Amino acid sequence: MNKRNDSIIKTIKKTPKNILFRITNNKDIVEKLLIDYPMIDSDMVSKNHLRIVLTNLKEVLDKDIEGDVVELGCNIGTTSLFIQKLLDHYKSKKKFHVYDSFEGLPEKHDKDKNNVERQFVKGRCKTKKEIFIHNFKVAKLKLPVIHVGWFGKISDDEYPKKIAFAFFDGDFYTSIIDSFNKVYPKMVPDSRITIHDYQWEVLPGVEKACTDFLKDKPEKGTIICEDIIGIMIKK
Ligand SMILES: C[S@@+](CC[C@H](N)C(=O)[O-])C[C@H]1O[C@@H](n2cnc3c(N)ncnc32)[C@H](O)[C@@H]1O
Repeated sequence: MNKRNDSIIKTIKKTPKNILFRITNNKDIVEKLLIDYPMIDSDMVSKNHLRIVLTNLKEVLDKDIEGDVVELGCNIGTTSLFIQKLLDHYKSKKKFHVYDSFEGLPEKHDKDKNNVERQFVKGRCKTKKEIFIHNFKVAKLKLPVIHVGWFGKISDDEYPKKIAFAFFDGDFYTSIIDSFNKVYPKMVPDSRITIHDYQWEVLPGVEKACTDFLKDKPEKGTIICEDIIGIMIKK
């Protein structure tokens, strides 16, 4: 135990319980979730990425933006678990839909080619829907609606009619283009999309897909990047 931790513990012990309760309760809910619950060690998202995604979802919930929540590329549910936890905290009536082929990444597009050593290839991240379900069971959380298939091939009816928040995590150019094609037309004003791996040199197709899709949209050039998470707010 280092000196700092030791002194924090002493301070906590001395703090009256009612004050301690107030401090814990006032803590930002995103930080509280990140402290209280362990992340699955999946090597796909970092704690700070989760922080950024959840903070944007919190904005949407605080502003009571109409519509449901979607994640395209849920894999084993590392991010999905935290999205569900935040929705539960808000006692939100929004439905949470997740999408994945569970076959891993599709074929690479020319726009995915990079100049770095690290290469992502077709089939990477392949997993099983059962693992996603198991992780939700272990966490004792309500299971989202799971849609199995390639984003572009899943019928429009399987995407919610109105979308308030989306997390895109499909890694490759075509996956992000397909995500936009399915989700963008259903987004309401002030809804948000957070896009993983934006401006990350290993997956250049992600930013290219955002630029190409938005070139004739009012949101052209408005994506903000925070620690390789792109954030788009629908006009
Ligand atoms: C990096 S993982 C997602 C990680 C996940 N969001 C998390 O928090 O751990 C990418 C996932 O996207 C899926 N995927 C990629 N492109 C897809 C596409 N076009 N259609 C369906 N699934 C896709 C892969 O199967 C993979 O599970």
